[in-house]
Amino acid sequence: MKYHIHTYGCQMNVRESEAVAALLEAAGHVRAAGEAEAEILIVNSCTVRDMAERKAIGKCGNLCALKRDGRNWKGLPIVGLIGCAVTRLGEKVFDQLPHLDFAVGSRRYGLIPALVNRAAMGETRMLEISGPDEIPTGLDAHPQGLPAEGAPDVNFQAFVTILLGCDNRCSYCIVPDVRGHEYSRPAREVVEEVRGLVGRGVKEVCLLGQSVLRYGLRNKAWTADDAPSPGGYTEAFPRLLESLAAIPGLERIRFTSAHPKGCTDELVRAYREFPQVCRHLHLPVQSGSDRVLAEMGRHYTRAEYLAAVTKLRAFDPEFAVTTDVIVGYPGETTEDFEATRSLMDEAGFDNAFVFKYSPRPGTRSAALPDDVSTAEKERRDQVLLADQEVRGQARNEKLVGTVREVLVEGPSPRNPARWSGRDSGNRIVVFTPCEGIIKGQRVQVKITSARPQTLLGELA
Ligand code: 5AD
Ligand code: SF4
Repeated sequence: MKYHIHTYGCQMNVRESEAVAALLEAAGHVRAAGEAEAEILIVNSCTVRDMAERKAIGKCGNLCALKRDGRNWKGLPIVGLIGCAVTRLGEKVFDQLPHLDFAVGSRRYGLIPALVNRAAMGETRMLEISGPDEIPTGLDAHPQGLPAEGAPDVNFQAFVTILLGCDNRCSYCIVPDVRGHEYSRPAREVVEEVRGLVGRGVKEVCLLGQSVLRYGLRNKAWTADDAPSPGGYTEAFPRLLESLAAIPGLERIRFTSAHPKGCTDELVRAYREFPQVCRHLHLPVQSGSDRVLAEMGRHYTRAEYLAAVTKLRAFDPEFAVTTDVIVGYPGETTEDFEATRSLMDEAGFDNAFVFKYSPRPGTRSAALPDDVSTAEKERRDQVLLADQEVRGQARNEKLVGTVREVLVEGPSPRNPARWSGRDSGNRIVVFTPCEGIIKGQRVQVKITSARPQTLLGELA
């Protein structure tokens, strides 16, 4: 049958949708050219904010309506909802979506091909939700033939999940409830997966986890059979970087997201020793007010956060730091907000994502009054975005005249006469001329001008 997957949410979801696609293909299904011709329709949902969940459920409702109208005498399409919203809602998902065939929470995606078969036999309203400590199934599946060895136009980038779940329990965040306890995949499994991807033409991997720098801290990532670190690394995450950097043909290693506690000397040593490790860290700060940070349960102060940024920039002033910020947390005063503003200036973020606080059922902060008005949240959001435009422009202008190493991603979406790629700091670099350039090629670009979120230049 032909399948189509709609994905909402973070990169972890993007990766998991890809794994589900690979599992369906292994079971003989094929990717549909579009939603209209698909016989299996899957929505991968997010629940981090109320709006995100509504979008996914709304989309799924529209797809279920297709089914109810009996588009096909065989009862097709089969409609499934997967991801974070499923775990949050449990059985209640069928109150909202009575015509849903199956609903699967994270860590049980290996069951999806079997559920599709059962749905094809007429079964409906099947629910699969894991316990918080379950070992996941299906996570290491990658679509066959997507990166094809030797092909000139391969997909040279791949996501690899290394850490599942989260135990941080920040007051506002629903992720620990829907993605379970922290679990680090065994290092050997991760290294083998990356080796396999490189064999199929992948040049850049992005390691994923809610808090990747905690890799190997809760459960053992390394076993007695694994060789000791040749570089003498004792911390699990830098040691994983060391193992991956030893894979020939792997040109770039990225990872996301991070917590300042993980910005250790060993991490900085790994950045310094392995040129493949990209000089960019996504380091969500959430707030610049010590009072709010403490309420959120972030386990760092403003000063500790800034010290982590200083440490990264001390060894490379061009090191790119990006962040997430929440505006309108319960009780956030204008003073707290101004503290966030000034922290963002001090940190000199290269990019920032701003989110308006949204209470999530069952989290600690949901018990507090959501007392910052929608209009005020909107105002704070706009102020931070405007600040970031100015800051991004200033930071990027400092790079005019430099030569950046760029891994080419393809024609620029805005103007296909120019091509674009990213530098080590994850900055988008748009360049000309592009005759004879191919995707995945490494080029040197001399930067001639800057925009807040883009660098422009010419092939050097
Ligand atoms: N409300 C608003 N933003 C949130 N985030 C997480 N939970 C909430 C919430 N309840 C934001 C954080 C996180 C990003 C992925 O989403 O900034 O880093
Ligand atoms: Fe959304 Fe968080 Fe789930 Fe990612 S982990 S899909 S951001 S709820």
